[in-house]
Amino acid sequence: MATTFPKLTSILLILISITLVTAKSDHFSKTLSPSSVKLRKQKLSHLHFYLHDKVSGQNATAVRVAQAAMTNQSPTFFGAVIMFDDALTMEPERNSKLVGRAQGMYGSASQTETGLAVVMNFAFMEGKYNGSTLSVMGRNAVFSTVREMPIIGGSGLFRFARGYVQAKTHTIDLKTGDAVVEYNVYVFHY
Ligand SMILES: *[C@@H]1O[C@H](CO)[C@@H](O)[C@H](O)[C@H]1NC(C)=O
Ligand SMILES: *[C@@H]1O[C@H](CO)[C@@H](O)[C@H](O)[C@H]1NC(C)=O
Repeated sequence: MATTFPKLTSILLILISITLVTAKSDHFSKTLSPSSVKLRKQKLSHLHFYLHDKVSGQNATAVRVAQAAMTNQSPTFFGAVIMFDDALTMEPERNSKLVGRAQGMYGSASQTETGLAVVMNFAFMEGKYNGSTLSVMGRNAVFSTVREMPIIGGSGLFRFARGYVQAKTHTIDLKTGDAVVEYNVYVFHY
């Protein structure tokens, strides 16, 4: 009896503080049912397209916007930051159907291999996904056969998105650096 009393008191105190915290948070938050924001059943979708990273010529879609003093002496161009607005097409050919654009930045983040830190949004422009986006953030070791990067979110039909992308170089022009990269996207969303 002597030992259960303090226990009961602490349980009561915990309950009271939980009630107080809940009462306070009532002013700015509440629990919603997923159906009230039209979230029904979670689906897994697969998307497949090609990204055109054009770094050369007058119509380049990827441009270097910043670099470190030592970037050009670095074998990996460590410190270079590139901003891009790359076309996403159904087939590897640039003139095949446009499904969206990959917009974002990549920086050379490794001093020992070509390893990019990537932050980008896929802005889809085709079919039911027109206007929806997926956000990707990850590491891209561009000379590995398959690079995987996490999908960290999305908008529109991709709200609450999570998943991963796999990037595989389709063609690369080693002189100009222009590349066509095949993307396989696996994404859970509602
Ligand atoms: C750049 O784009 C313009 C307009 O689409 C086109 O006329 C021109 O031929 C392109 N230039 C190159 C070098 O691809
Ligand atoms: C995508 O949506 C935009 C804005 O609503 C519209 O102008 C465009 O025609 C649509 N594209 C396709 C391919 O449906």
